[in-house]
Amino acid sequence: MNTDEYIDLFDELDDNEQTENFINKDKRRQRFPERHFKYVREANAEFLKGQDDSSRSFDFTYQAARFEEWWLLESLGDFYEHKWISDVLRRLKGGKEASVYLCQAGAEVVADLVAAKVYRPRSLRNLKNDGIYRTGRTDLDSDGNALVKEADVNAIRKRSNYGEELRHTSWIAYELQTLERLHSAGADVPKPYALEKNAILMQYIGDDGRAAPTLNTVTLDRDEVKPLFERVIRNVDLLLSNERIHGDLSAYNILYWDGEITLIDFPQVVYPEANPAAWSIFLRDVTRVCQYFASQGWKRDTRKLAADLWTSHGHRIFKEVHPSHLDAENKDDRRLWEKQKVLK
Ligand SMILES: Nc1ncnc2c1ncn2[C@@H]1O[C@H](COP(=O)(O)OP(=O)(O)OP(=O)(O)O)[C@@H](O)[C@H]1O
Ligand SMILES: [Mg+2]
Repeated sequence: MNTDEYIDLFDELDDNEQTENFINKDKRRQRFPERHFKYVREANAEFLKGQDDSSRSFDFTYQAARFEEWWLLESLGDFYEHKWISDVLRRLKGGKEASVYLCQAGAEVVADLVAAKVYRPRSLRNLKNDGIYRTGRTDLDSDGNALVKEADVNAIRKRSNYGEELRHTSWIAYELQTLERLHSAGADVPKPYALEKNAILMQYIGDDGRAAPTLNTVTLDRDEVKPLFERVIRNVDLLLSNERIHGDLSAYNILYWDGEITLIDFPQVVYPEANPAAWSIFLRDVTRVCQYFASQGWKRDTRKLAADLWTSHGHRIFKEVHPSHLDAENKDDRRLWEKQKVLK
Protein backbone atom coordinates (compact mmCIF):
# COMPACT_ATOMS: atom_id res chain seq x y z
CA MET A 1 0.00 0.00 0.00
CA ASN A 2 1.57 3.30 -1.04
CA THR A 3 1.09 6.71 0.55
CA ASP A 4 -1.73 7.71 -1.81
CA GLU A 5 -3.66 4.63 -0.83
CA TYR A 6 -3.12 5.36 2.84
CA ILE A 7 -4.52 8.82 2.26
CA ASP A 8 -7.56 7.39 0.50
CA LEU A 9 -8.17 5.00 3.32
CA PHE A 10 -7.91 7.72 5.91
CA ASP A 11 -10.28 9.83 3.87
CA GLU A 12 -12.76 7.05 3.75
CA LEU A 13 -12.46 6.22 7.40
CA ASP A 14 -12.82 9.82 8.44
CA ASP A 15 -15.95 10.18 6.35
CA ASN A 16 -17.46 7.11 7.84
CA GLU A 17 -16.46 7.85 11.40
CA GLN A 18 -18.60 10.90 11.12
CA THR A 19 -21.59 9.26 9.59
CA GLU A 20 -24.31 8.57 12.14
CA ASN A 21 -25.19 5.17 10.77
CA PHE A 22 -21.61 4.08 10.88
CA ILE A 23 -21.42 3.59 14.61
CA ASN A 24 -21.86 -0.15 14.49
CA LYS A 25 -18.46 -1.67 15.03
CA ASP A 26 -19.36 -4.97 13.42
CA LYS A 27 -20.53 -3.33 10.25
CA ARG A 28 -17.32 -1.38 10.20
CA ARG A 29 -15.32 -4.57 10.51
CA GLN A 30 -17.26 -6.03 7.62
CA ARG A 31 -16.40 -3.09 5.45
CA PHE A 32 -12.78 -2.81 6.52
CA PRO A 33 -11.06 -6.11 7.30
CA GLU A 34 -8.60 -6.24 10.19
CA ARG A 35 -5.57 -5.78 7.96
CA HIS A 36 -6.88 -2.34 7.02
CA PHE A 37 -6.80 -1.27 10.63
CA LYS A 38 -3.18 -2.32 10.70
CA TYR A 39 -2.55 -0.13 7.66
CA VAL A 40 -4.30 2.73 9.36
CA ARG A 41 -2.05 2.48 12.40
CA GLU A 42 1.02 2.34 10.19
CA ALA A 43 -0.27 5.21 8.14
CA ASN A 44 -0.88 7.19 11.26
CA ALA A 45 2.73 6.77 12.21
CA GLU A 46 3.93 7.58 8.71
CA PHE A 47 1.92 10.76 8.50
CA LEU A 48 2.68 12.03 11.93
CA LYS A 49 6.38 11.35 11.82
CA GLY A 50 8.14 14.20 10.17
CA GLN A 51 5.47 16.69 11.11
CA ASP A 52 6.92 19.63 12.94
CA ASP A 53 4.52 19.78 15.84
CA SER A 54 5.88 23.00 17.26
CA SER A 55 5.01 24.97 14.14
CA ARG A 56 1.98 22.98 13.05
CA SER A 57 -0.07 22.36 16.12
CA PHE A 58 -2.77 24.61 17.33
CA ASP A 59 -5.71 23.59 19.43
CA PHE A 60 -9.07 24.04 17.91
CA THR A 61 -12.58 23.61 19.21
CA TYR A 62 -13.80 21.42 16.36
CA GLN A 63 -13.48 17.74 17.17
CA ALA A 64 -11.98 16.37 14.00
CA ALA A 65 -11.46 12.74 13.12
CA ARG A 66 -7.83 11.63 13.16
CA PHE A 67 -6.80 12.09 9.58
CA GLU A 68 -8.98 15.14 9.23
CA GLU A 69 -7.22 16.73 12.19
CA TRP A 70 -3.83 16.11 10.65
CA TRP A 71 -5.04 17.55 7.36
CA LEU A 72 -6.51 20.63 9.04
CA LEU A 73 -3.23 21.30 10.81
CA GLU A 74 -1.43 20.96 7.49
CA SER A 75 -3.89 23.09 5.60
CA LEU A 76 -4.79 25.78 8.12
CA GLY A 77 -1.58 25.96 10.18
CA ASP A 78 -0.26 28.91 8.21
CA PHE A 79 -3.54 30.81 8.44
CA TYR A 80 -3.29 30.36 12.20
CA GLU A 81 0.33 31.50 12.35
CA HIS A 82 -0.41 34.57 10.28
CA LYS A 83 -3.32 35.38 12.60
CA TRP A 84 -5.92 35.02 9.87
CA ILE A 85 -7.77 32.54 12.06
CA SER A 86 -7.63 31.82 15.78
CA ASP A 87 -9.85 28.73 15.99
CA VAL A 88 -11.71 26.16 13.89
CA LEU A 89 -15.26 26.02 15.24
CA ARG A 90 -17.13 23.50 13.14
CA ARG A 91 -17.44 21.84 9.78
CA LEU A 92 -20.12 23.55 7.73
CA LYS A 93 -20.16 21.09 4.88
CA GLY A 94 -18.12 18.11 3.83
CA GLY A 95 -17.95 17.44 0.12
CA LYS A 96 -16.14 15.06 -2.20
CA GLU A 97 -13.79 17.75 -3.33
CA ALA A 98 -13.53 20.04 -0.33
CA SER A 99 -14.89 20.63 3.14
CA VAL A 100 -15.82 24.08 4.42
CA TYR A 101 -15.14 25.03 8.05
CA LEU A 102 -16.37 27.88 10.16
CA CYS A 103 -13.41 29.58 11.83
CA GLN A 104 -12.98 32.30 14.39
CA ALA A 105 -11.15 35.11 12.63
CA GLY A 106 -7.68 36.06 13.89
CA ALA A 107 -6.39 39.54 14.72
CA GLU A 108 -5.39 40.22 11.10
CA VAL A 109 -8.94 39.93 9.74
CA VAL A 110 -11.64 42.51 10.27
CA ALA A 111 -14.47 40.05 10.82
CA ASP A 112 -15.68 37.86 13.60
CA LEU A 113 -16.12 34.65 11.65
CA VAL A 114 -14.57 33.40 8.41
CA ALA A 115 -15.04 30.35 6.18
CA ALA A 116 -12.11 28.08 5.24
CA LYS A 117 -12.56 25.86 2.20
CA VAL A 118 -10.11 22.99 2.63
CA TYR A 119 -9.54 20.82 -0.41
CA ARG A 120 -9.17 17.10 0.03
CA PRO A 121 -5.78 15.52 -0.60
CA ARG A 122 -6.90 13.83 -3.76
CA SER A 123 -9.60 16.24 -4.82
CA LEU A 124 -8.36 16.37 -8.38
CA ARG A 125 -9.01 12.70 -8.87
CA ASN A 126 -12.70 13.46 -8.50
CA LEU A 127 -12.56 16.11 -11.18
CA LYS A 128 -13.26 13.74 -14.00
CA ASN A 129 -13.53 16.36 -16.67
CA ASP A 130 -11.27 19.05 -15.34
CA GLY A 131 -9.58 19.17 -18.75
CA ILE A 132 -12.62 20.94 -20.21
CA TYR A 133 -12.17 23.78 -17.76
CA ARG A 134 -8.40 23.91 -17.90
CA THR A 135 -8.41 24.43 -21.67
CA GLY A 136 -7.23 27.95 -22.36
CA ARG A 137 -6.07 28.51 -18.77
CA THR A 138 -2.43 28.81 -17.81
CA ASP A 139 -1.66 26.86 -14.66
CA LEU A 140 -0.91 29.00 -11.61
CA ASP A 141 1.38 28.65 -8.61
CA SER A 142 0.20 29.28 -5.06
CA ASP A 143 0.92 33.00 -5.43
CA GLY A 144 -1.41 33.12 -8.42
CA ASN A 145 1.46 33.59 -10.90
CA ALA A 146 1.49 31.68 -14.18
CA LEU A 147 3.68 28.58 -14.13
CA VAL A 148 6.32 29.17 -16.74
CA LYS A 149 9.16 26.79 -15.85
CA GLU A 150 9.36 24.13 -18.51
CA ALA A 151 9.97 21.43 -15.90
CA ASP A 152 6.73 22.37 -14.13
CA VAL A 153 4.72 22.49 -17.33
CA ASN A 154 6.08 19.09 -18.34
CA ALA A 155 5.39 17.61 -14.92
CA ILE A 156 1.74 18.66 -15.23
CA ARG A 157 1.48 17.24 -18.72
CA LYS A 158 3.04 13.96 -17.70
CA ARG A 159 0.87 13.77 -14.60
CA SER A 160 3.78 12.84 -12.36
CA ASN A 161 3.16 13.08 -8.61
CA TYR A 162 4.81 16.47 -8.57
CA GLY A 163 2.75 17.54 -11.59
CA GLU A 164 -0.46 16.49 -9.89
CA GLU A 165 0.48 18.57 -6.88
CA LEU A 166 1.02 21.59 -9.12
CA ARG A 167 -2.30 20.98 -10.83
CA HIS A 168 -4.05 20.79 -7.47
CA THR A 169 -2.47 24.09 -6.37
CA SER A 170 -3.38 25.74 -9.66
CA TRP A 171 -7.00 24.65 -9.38
CA ILE A 172 -7.27 26.28 -5.95
CA ALA A 173 -5.33 29.38 -7.01
CA TYR A 174 -7.95 29.92 -9.73
CA GLU A 175 -10.67 29.92 -7.13
CA LEU A 176 -8.95 32.61 -5.05
CA GLN A 177 -7.90 34.69 -8.03
CA THR A 178 -11.44 34.66 -9.41
CA LEU A 179 -12.91 35.67 -6.07
CA GLU A 180 -10.42 38.54 -5.84
CA ARG A 181 -11.20 39.80 -9.29
CA LEU A 182 -14.96 39.48 -9.01
CA HIS A 183 -15.12 40.88 -5.50
CA SER A 184 -13.26 44.01 -6.51
CA ALA A 185 -15.53 44.29 -9.57
CA GLY A 186 -18.52 44.43 -7.22
CA ALA A 187 -19.94 40.94 -7.81
CA ASP A 188 -21.90 39.13 -5.10
CA VAL A 189 -19.15 36.73 -4.04
CA PRO A 190 -17.50 36.18 -0.63
CA LYS A 191 -14.60 38.51 0.10
CA PRO A 192 -11.42 36.42 -0.24
CA TYR A 193 -8.73 36.72 2.43
CA ALA A 194 -5.94 34.26 1.79
CA LEU A 195 -4.71 31.15 0.00
CA GLU A 196 -2.59 28.29 1.29
CA LYS A 197 -1.56 25.17 -0.54
CA ASN A 198 -4.81 23.32 0.20
CA ALA A 199 -7.19 25.96 1.41
CA ILE A 200 -8.75 29.32 0.81
CA LEU A 201 -10.05 31.65 3.45
CA MET A 202 -13.03 33.86 2.69
CA GLN A 203 -15.93 35.81 4.11
CA TYR A 204 -18.42 33.63 5.92
CA ILE A 205 -22.05 34.01 4.85
CA GLY A 206 -24.38 33.27 7.76
CA ASP A 207 -24.43 33.96 11.47
CA ASP A 208 -23.33 32.28 14.72
CA GLY A 209 -26.17 29.81 14.62
CA ARG A 210 -26.53 28.94 10.98
CA ALA A 211 -24.62 29.10 7.72
CA ALA A 212 -26.42 30.48 4.69
CA PRO A 213 -28.34 27.71 2.92
CA THR A 214 -27.78 27.03 -0.76
CA LEU A 215 -30.54 28.41 -2.96
CA ASN A 216 -31.72 24.97 -4.10
CA THR A 217 -33.02 24.34 -0.55
CA VAL A 218 -34.87 27.66 -0.35
CA THR A 219 -38.46 28.43 -1.32
CA LEU A 220 -38.53 32.10 -2.19
CA ASP A 221 -41.32 34.53 -1.36
CA ARG A 222 -43.25 35.42 -4.46
CA ASP A 223 -42.14 39.01 -4.49
CA GLU A 224 -38.43 38.21 -4.23
CA VAL A 225 -38.25 35.73 -7.12
CA LYS A 226 -37.91 38.24 -9.95
CA PRO A 227 -35.48 40.64 -8.21
CA LEU A 228 -33.26 37.73 -7.15
CA PHE A 229 -33.32 36.22 -10.62
CA GLU A 230 -32.25 39.58 -12.03
CA ARG A 231 -29.55 39.82 -9.40
CA VAL A 232 -28.11 36.44 -10.40
CA ILE A 233 -28.21 37.39 -14.09
CA ARG A 234 -26.55 40.71 -13.27
CA ASN A 235 -23.72 38.70 -11.73
CA VAL A 236 -23.50 36.38 -14.73
CA ASP A 237 -23.24 39.49 -16.89
CA LEU A 238 -20.60 41.01 -14.62
CA LEU A 239 -18.58 37.80 -14.88
CA LEU A 240 -18.67 38.07 -18.66
CA SER A 241 -17.53 41.70 -18.39
CA ASN A 242 -14.57 40.30 -16.46
CA GLU A 243 -14.00 37.59 -19.07
CA ARG A 244 -15.13 34.80 -16.81
CA ILE A 245 -17.80 32.07 -16.90
CA HIS A 246 -18.56 30.36 -13.61
CA GLY A 247 -18.59 26.89 -15.18
CA ASP A 248 -20.61 25.14 -12.47
CA LEU A 249 -23.33 27.63 -11.73
CA SER A 250 -26.62 26.38 -10.33
CA ALA A 251 -28.77 26.93 -7.24
CA TYR A 252 -26.32 24.55 -5.47
CA ASN A 253 -23.54 27.10 -5.78
CA ILE A 254 -25.55 30.16 -4.78
CA LEU A 255 -26.01 30.99 -1.10
CA TYR A 256 -29.12 32.75 0.14
CA TRP A 257 -28.97 34.93 3.22
CA ASP A 258 -31.17 37.79 4.43
CA GLY A 259 -32.86 38.14 1.06
CA GLU A 260 -29.54 38.34 -0.80
CA ILE A 261 -27.57 35.93 -2.96
CA THR A 262 -23.85 35.07 -3.02
CA LEU A 263 -22.19 33.07 -5.79
CA ILE A 264 -19.58 30.55 -4.59
CA ASP A 265 -17.32 27.72 -5.81
CA PHE A 266 -15.11 29.03 -8.62
CA PRO A 267 -12.13 26.70 -9.20
CA GLN A 268 -13.43 25.58 -12.61
CA VAL A 269 -13.85 29.13 -13.94
CA VAL A 270 -13.65 29.34 -17.74
CA TYR A 271 -12.34 32.07 -20.07
CA PRO A 272 -14.90 32.78 -22.80
CA GLU A 273 -12.43 33.50 -25.58
CA ALA A 274 -9.85 30.85 -24.74
CA ASN A 275 -12.04 27.78 -24.30
CA PRO A 276 -13.65 26.19 -27.38
CA ALA A 277 -16.50 24.80 -25.25
CA ALA A 278 -17.17 28.19 -23.60
CA TRP A 279 -20.58 28.82 -25.17
CA SER A 280 -21.89 25.38 -24.17
CA ILE A 281 -20.57 25.80 -20.64
CA PHE A 282 -22.13 29.26 -20.43
CA LEU A 283 -25.46 28.01 -21.77
CA ARG A 284 -25.44 25.22 -19.20
CA ASP A 285 -24.85 27.74 -16.36
CA VAL A 286 -27.73 29.95 -17.50
CA THR A 287 -29.99 26.94 -18.04
CA ARG A 288 -29.44 25.66 -14.51
CA VAL A 289 -30.12 29.07 -13.01
CA CYS A 290 -33.32 29.36 -15.08
CA GLN A 291 -34.40 25.87 -13.99
CA TYR A 292 -34.32 26.86 -10.34
CA PHE A 293 -36.17 30.13 -10.91
CA ALA A 294 -38.75 28.33 -13.08
CA SER A 295 -39.40 26.06 -10.08
CA GLN A 296 -40.12 29.25 -8.14
CA GLY A 297 -42.61 30.40 -10.77
CA TRP A 298 -40.39 32.64 -12.92
CA LYS A 299 -40.04 31.20 -16.41
CA ARG A 300 -37.81 32.66 -19.09
CA ASP A 301 -36.65 31.74 -22.57
CA THR A 302 -33.32 30.35 -21.40
CA ARG A 303 -31.57 30.07 -24.72
CA LYS A 304 -32.53 33.56 -25.82
CA LEU A 305 -31.42 35.02 -22.50
CA ALA A 306 -28.08 33.21 -22.68
CA ALA A 307 -27.58 34.16 -26.33
CA ASP A 308 -28.37 37.83 -25.68
CA LEU A 309 -25.92 37.99 -22.77
CA TRP A 310 -23.26 36.13 -24.72
CA THR A 311 -23.45 38.17 -27.90
CA SER A 312 -23.74 41.47 -26.00
CA HIS A 313 -20.15 40.82 -24.92
CA GLY A 314 -19.05 40.26 -28.50
CA HIS A 315 -18.84 36.46 -28.34
CA ARG A 316 -20.01 34.23 -31.12
CA ILE A 317 -22.42 31.38 -30.66
CA PHE A 318 -21.16 27.96 -31.43
CA LYS A 319 -23.93 26.21 -33.32
CA GLU A 320 -24.49 22.54 -32.69
CA VAL A 321 -24.47 20.37 -35.78
CA HIS A 322 -26.36 17.10 -35.93
CA PRO A 323 -23.88 14.15 -36.08
CA SER A 324 -25.51 12.90 -39.30
CA HIS A 325 -24.15 16.02 -40.99
CA LEU A 326 -20.61 15.38 -39.84
CA ASP A 327 -18.00 13.40 -41.74
CA ALA A 328 -15.85 11.13 -39.56
CA GLU A 329 -13.05 11.29 -42.15
CA ASN A 330 -12.88 15.06 -42.02
CA LYS A 331 -10.47 16.55 -39.47
CA ASP A 332 -12.52 19.71 -38.84
CA ASP A 333 -15.72 17.73 -38.47
CA ARG A 334 -14.06 15.41 -36.00
CA ARG A 335 -12.91 18.42 -33.98
CA LEU A 336 -16.45 19.82 -33.98
CA TRP A 337 -17.81 16.47 -32.87
CA GLU A 338 -15.31 16.35 -29.96
CA LYS A 339 -16.30 19.86 -29.00
CA GLN A 340 -20.00 19.03 -29.01
CA LYS A 341 -19.81 15.80 -27.11
CA VAL A 342 -17.62 17.26 -24.40
CA LEU A 343 -20.55 18.47 -22.33
CA LYS A 344 -23.01 15.71 -23.04
N1 LIG B 1 -18.34 31.56 2.26
C1 LIG B 1 -19.18 30.63 2.73
N2 LIG B 1 -20.02 30.92 3.76
C2 LIG B 1 -20.87 29.97 4.21
N3 LIG B 1 -20.97 28.72 3.72
C3 LIG B 1 -20.16 28.39 2.70
C4 LIG B 1 -19.24 29.32 2.15
N4 LIG B 1 -18.57 28.72 1.15
C5 LIG B 1 -19.05 27.47 1.06
N5 LIG B 1 -20.01 27.26 1.99
C6 LIG B 1 -20.74 25.99 2.21
O1 LIG B 1 -19.91 24.92 1.84
C7 LIG B 1 -20.49 24.18 0.75
C8 LIG B 1 -19.40 23.70 -0.18
O2 LIG B 1 -18.73 24.79 -0.76
P1 LIG B 1 -18.35 24.79 -2.30
O3 LIG B 1 -19.58 24.67 -3.12
O4 LIG B 1 -17.46 25.96 -2.54
O5 LIG B 1 -17.45 23.48 -2.37
P2 LIG B 1 -17.60 22.13 -3.24
O6 LIG B 1 -16.31 21.48 -3.20
O7 LIG B 1 -18.22 22.41 -4.53
O8 LIG B 1 -18.58 21.27 -2.41
P3 LIG B 1 -19.89 20.62 -2.99
O9 LIG B 1 -19.42 19.45 -3.80
O10 LIG B 1 -20.64 20.24 -1.74
O11 LIG B 1 -20.58 21.69 -3.83
C9 LIG B 1 -21.49 25.12 0.13
O12 LIG B 1 -22.54 24.42 -0.50
C10 LIG B 1 -21.98 25.90 1.32
O13 LIG B 1 -22.97 25.15 2.02
MG1 LIG C 1 -20.27 23.55 -4.71
